[in-house]
Amino acid sequence: MPLLTFAVALLALLPASQALPASIHYPRASISALSTTQISSFKPYTFYASAGYCNAAKTLAWNCGANCQANPSFVPTASGGDGDTSQFWFVGYDPTLDTVIVSHQGTHPEAILPLIEDADIVPENLDSSLFPGISSSLKAHSGFADAQAKSATQVLAAVNTTMLKHSTNKITLVGHSLGAAISLLDTVYLHLQLPSAALSFVGYGLPRVGNQAFADYVDALGASVTHINNKEDFIPILPGMFLGFVHPAGEVHITDANAWDACPGQDNPSTQCTVGDVKSIFSGEEADHDGPYDGVEIGC
Ligand SMILES: *[C@@H]1O[C@H](CO)[C@@H](O)[C@H](O)[C@H]1NC(C)=O
Repeated sequence: MPLLTFAVALLALLPASQALPASIHYPRASISALSTTQISSFKPYTFYASAGYCNAAKTLAWNCGANCQANPSFVPTASGGDGDTSQFWFVGYDPTLDTVIVSHQGTHPEAILPLIEDADIVPENLDSSLFPGISSSLKAHSGFADAQAKSATQVLAAVNTTMLKHSTNKITLVGHSLGAAISLLDTVYLHLQLPSAALSFVGYGLPRVGNQAFADYVDALGASVTHINNKEDFIPILPGMFLGFVHPAGEVHITDANAWDACPGQDNPSTQCTVGDVKSIFSGEEADHDGPYDGVEIGC
């Protein structure tokens, strides 16, 4: 093998081999497929994540077409964003699920790739005014942190109001793509701002948001965290682990045969999970990013 080819091959191997500690071993048996009932239980959240793409005036009136009609009893509290310089978002209450819902608009792959790659890629500290007392060892992608900061205080006020009005301490944060990244940051943010809240996060096509300390912090929150990745979608393998980015636990990977496999641990390297299945953006499939997730194509 010519030296240059070998060097290039080695470079390609380096990130993965560095990022996977040899001591961690995931036996195949530890990956389990979700039941049909478990898969169906995500459907309301999938539609809420999809409705995140709808115009703020329409979600405030809960008149956004099929995405709104799928959760007909939803009671909206507030919405915002302009879908251009800031992502749309909405907050409200689902009486059937008895939870506050927070949803953030995402981006489609052609828009998120430049954000992931061009933004200052070195993970940065979280803003101490939004995240009071958070350890400086926790770092997040600056583009995602900037997007979360735009709506943070409005979302907090709306969530607080909704919790009091409907006498619930349950908050479920959803989103797809960039919207999932914003909602994961909101999960940490709301944990700090509303310590009595019981938090759940359901993300779709979540990119890596922060560093190892951030992922460990999310894992230790006591929140229910699920991030669902569809087939060969390559957004969840970005930014790369060799840049210091790590996913929290809670991956569910939809296989080519439409099984939903629960992949334990952080960045599970099994070929049944995203890291093992989608080795690079070149072997990935851009179209899989938007779904379908149990029949739902994300978008408004
Ligand atoms: C939530 O609302 C209550 C009542 O208005 C207020 O006292 C409290 O400061 C609010 N909390 C946050 C974190 O905004």
